[in-house]
Parts: sequence; structure tokens; C-alpha cells
Amino acid sequence: MTIHETAFLTCAYRSSDPELSGDHYAYLYNNARTDDWVDAITAEVSDKEPFLHCLRNRFFLDKITDFFGQHPEGVLVNWGSGFSMYPFLIAKTVQCIDIDQNDIISYKSDLLNDWIKKGKIPKRNVEYIKADFRQNDLSTLIKSLKSIIDARPCFFILEGVLYFLSPAVTEMVFIAMKEIQKTGDLLGCVSFLPEAADTAVLKNLNAFFDKNNFTDDTFSHQLLPHEFYTKRDGYVLKDHQDYCSLSQEYKPEMAIYDQFSILNENMYILKRK
Ligand SMILES: C[S@@+](CC[C@H](N)C(=O)[O-])C[C@H]1O[C@@H](n2cnc3c(N)ncnc32)[C@H](O)[C@@H]1O
Repeated sequence: MTIHETAFLTCAYRSSDPELSGDHYAYLYNNARTDDWVDAITAEVSDKEPFLHCLRNRFFLDKITDFFGQHPEGVLVNWGSGFSMYPFLIAKTVQCIDIDQNDIISYKSDLLNDWIKKGKIPKRNVEYIKADFRQNDLSTLIKSLKSIIDARPCFFILEGVLYFLSPAVTEMVFIAMKEIQKTGDLLGCVSFLPEAADTAVLKNLNAFFDKNNFTDDTFSHQLLPHEFYTKRDGYVLKDHQDYCSLSQEYKPEMAIYDQFSILNENMYILKRK
């Protein structure tokens, strides 16, 4: 499995309950190879993964929709966008930018343009940027984003990516985001807490990725404490949820109370000061 195959995985999870995830297009990416990965992960790691990823998408979709309700001419920038479909689930007035590695962006932009032509998804204003966050210098990326955003209100999202990045690359990405965002802009992030390291589920996930990593991609297994967000220079923490709280809010009949029994990611919304 390569890191970019994980983008197919999250999509497949979101397609398991479109009503809950809010992503009615995720099913378009489904394929037999990904189905096999999903079967293996739900058997070897945790059978809650599809449900949890539906909650994650729904939470961010709601936050993004609220933000652009107030800023209909704003800009959504998805860092490590994978096959996320937010641009097609929100108002068409919003300018969207998907950033990801070369192969993901090439594949995704071709597919989406074809689906638009065939009327499978609505037309939206999406720019695609190919970038690897591990490059030494993000200044070209910063410059292009500033130019496209052109001082409009923006919502950045960094979802399902931090686990794969090293601390040094993470710091560079956060510094870049801070340089681009202005007062009142929002940043949505997802990560695991260090205390999850001792759980059987996270050990199983790390082992699963390591066992199936045929490419030497950097599966860094990064975990981040709350302080990473509460002490983030230039930002104030506005909202923090985990899968237990989201399950209780969005699907009480399937509520989860034991955070250590699942791959419990934490969702953060930061506001630029
Ligand atoms: C698990 S997927 C998540 C995709 C999407 N954000 C979602 O939630 O469905 C991880 C994504 O991060 C991207 N990614 C990982 N490392 C990256 C890097 N160094 N530079 C750019 N993108 C990266 C991968 O290509 C992949 O699309």
C-alpha cells in the first residue's frame, strides 16, 4: 500500500454511510482493490473505521458549510486532499483548492473533469496544486496560494495527513499555513493523541501499514498532544472533538464511550488570531 492508496480507503469508508458522512459522491471511487484493503483493516485493526470516518467527514462538512454560510465568496484549501469531495458538497460560490502529491492530483483532476462532463457531479471552481510537503522549501506553494486566495476569507483543512508526516515537515506546513491565513480564518486538523500509542488498535494499525508498506513511503505514525494546538503560535483553539463526542452527537444509537477501544482521532478547529 502506498500513502496515496490510503486516500481510496478513507473514501470507501465515507461511502459506507453517505447519509451520515454527507458525501454522496465517495462511492464513485470504489474499486475491488480498495474493498480488499477495507476488508483486511476491518478484520485486522478495527471494524469501526468506516463509521468513524463518516463522522469525521460530517463534522468537517458541517464546519465548512457554516463558515462559507458567512463567507460565500471564500476559499477552501484542502492540504493533502486525497479524494475528499467537499467542493462538490458545498455552495458553488466557494473557490476550492486541492493540494496533494502528483499522482493523486493527476488522477483525481482527470476523473473529476470526466465526471463533470458526464453529469455525475456538479461543476465547481476547483484548482489543483501538486506538491509534496516534504520538499525543503514551501515558498513557491505559499506564493501561489496567496495569489489565488487574494485576501479572501479561507478555511484550511489538514485531514488524515498528520499521521504520515514527520515533526519537521509538520512544523513547516503549519508555518506556511500561518503565513497565508489572516485574522478570522479557520484551520481544521486531525491527529491521534500520544496516549493512543498504548492501545491495541493503534498498534495494530501501525503494524498493518508497516507490513503492507511496499514503497518506503513515510508512514511516520505521528501522534500529537493537545498542547500542539492550544500553544500554536498565531492561532486560538475554537473547537475540539473526538470520535466519542461525535458519535454521541451525530449517531447516539451507535455512541462510543471508550476512547481506547477505537482508533480515536481528535478533530481540532483553530482560528487565526
Ligand atoms: C489518508 S489520505 C487522506 C485524504 C483526505 N484528506 C481525506 O481525509 O480523505 C492522506 C493524504 O495525504 C496525502 N499526503 C501524505 N503525505 C503527503 C505529503 N508529504 N505531501 C502532500 N500530500 C501528502 C496523501 O497523498 C493522501 O492523499
